[in-house]
Amino acid sequence: MKYIKCNILNPVSEKKCEYLKDVIITIDNNIIKDIVSSQEFNSTKIEIIDKSDKVIIPGLIDTHVHLSQWRIRGRYKSDLLDWLNTYTFPEEEKLNNPDYAQNVAQDFFKNLIQVGTTTASIYVTSSQKATNIAFEEADKISIRALIGKVCMDQNTPPGLIENTDKSFNESVELCQQWDKKGLLNYVFTPRFAPVCSSNLMSKIGNYAQENDKYIQTHLSENHNEIALVKKLFPEAKSYTDVYYRANLLGPKTIMAHVIHLDDKELELMKNSNTKIAHCPDSNFFLKSGRFPYKKLIDNNLTLGLGSDVAGGTSLDMFYQMRMANYMQLDYSIEVEELFYLATLGNAKVLSKDDIIGNIEIGKEADLLVLNINPQQTIQELLSELIFVRGKDAVEEVYISGKKVTI
Ligand code: GUN
Ligand code: ZN
Repeated sequence: MKYIKCNILNPVSEKKCEYLKDVIITIDNNIIKDIVSSQEFNSTKIEIIDKSDKVIIPGLIDTHVHLSQWRIRGRYKSDLLDWLNTYTFPEEEKLNNPDYAQNVAQDFFKNLIQVGTTTASIYVTSSQKATNIAFEEADKISIRALIGKVCMDQNTPPGLIENTDKSFNESVELCQQWDKKGLLNYVFTPRFAPVCSSNLMSKIGNYAQENDKYIQTHLSENHNEIALVKKLFPEAKSYTDVYYRANLLGPKTIMAHVIHLDDKELELMKNSNTKIAHCPDSNFFLKSGRFPYKKLIDNNLTLGLGSDVAGGTSLDMFYQMRMANYMQLDYSIEVEELFYLATLGNAKVLSKDDIIGNIEIGKEADLLVLNINPQQTIQELLSELIFVRGKDAVEEVYISGKKVTI
């Protein structure tokens, strides 16, 4: 049992954040057992961890990030396809070397935890070995993660291309090996339609739906990409329809970007309860376009935030909140909502809001201890974190009740 005396800043909904001052959280193994005011707490003979001059928030969640691109942050091209061919695919080929893959994975997870991300949905590469290494390193460091082997069986450089059956079978093997092991999940990861055959996408879609597994991919990020999808899949009515036909849409599917949808595509997303990872920094960096935030929330789509490193330049989810705010020129996403997006909102995107996302009795204790003046209002605290301090405020990280070294 652990007892922490602290102040809790806690997201409750899109519009509401609560601030519980001078409370004691009781953590029983991995679970938040109780939260009471420190005056009500009977503290005799109990050792209390004193964080009364700090603020505790739930661990941050990143719903879209590429482990394999950690080393190419900031390599600039102003178009997605050009960037993939010039920097990304050659770097991903390097992870075919297991030593390099392990080195990158260790560095990536260490940095992820340092910025206060306690859960992430991660793309590795098309290498089964590199993906297995990523799982091993995630397990060692005790982070909560959904991890997937990238599937690509067409329009792909020789060092990354896979045979269709092999791509599918290796994904299933990894899923059987790692899904639900400790804090880990497997996520089927057909990279995006241009590099996947309809056959491969359907195999993955059918398997994942039948077995209630996660899926992640990219959708409608860039105009050249959309034109390529139209050319490659002339039978489909739209980019989203390519995925719909392959049975890839559903509540456990996380689509990244989703910038340029028409209304019919939006209906397909809504009717299937498919989730969205909005990656604002990446959209700025690759000049992909402006995410239609207001339109999507008005249509009741479930969305959250992703760093998309290395389309994005930083793992810091506070920075991603800032970018999400800056991206909307005619609409203000308020600080409570930005905070919600990277915590409880992202937990909903990952269908994990029953166990993480905020600090509630019965949920798992994924917590950050922040070095910030607690004598401020909710708006002042959130503004300082989002627009000024970012990751630098993160002092301690707990995942599933366990303090992890940062
Ligand atoms: N679309 C397909 N692959 C990628 C990728 O690695 N990054 C981004 N931003 N978009 C993609
Ligand atoms: Zn991406």
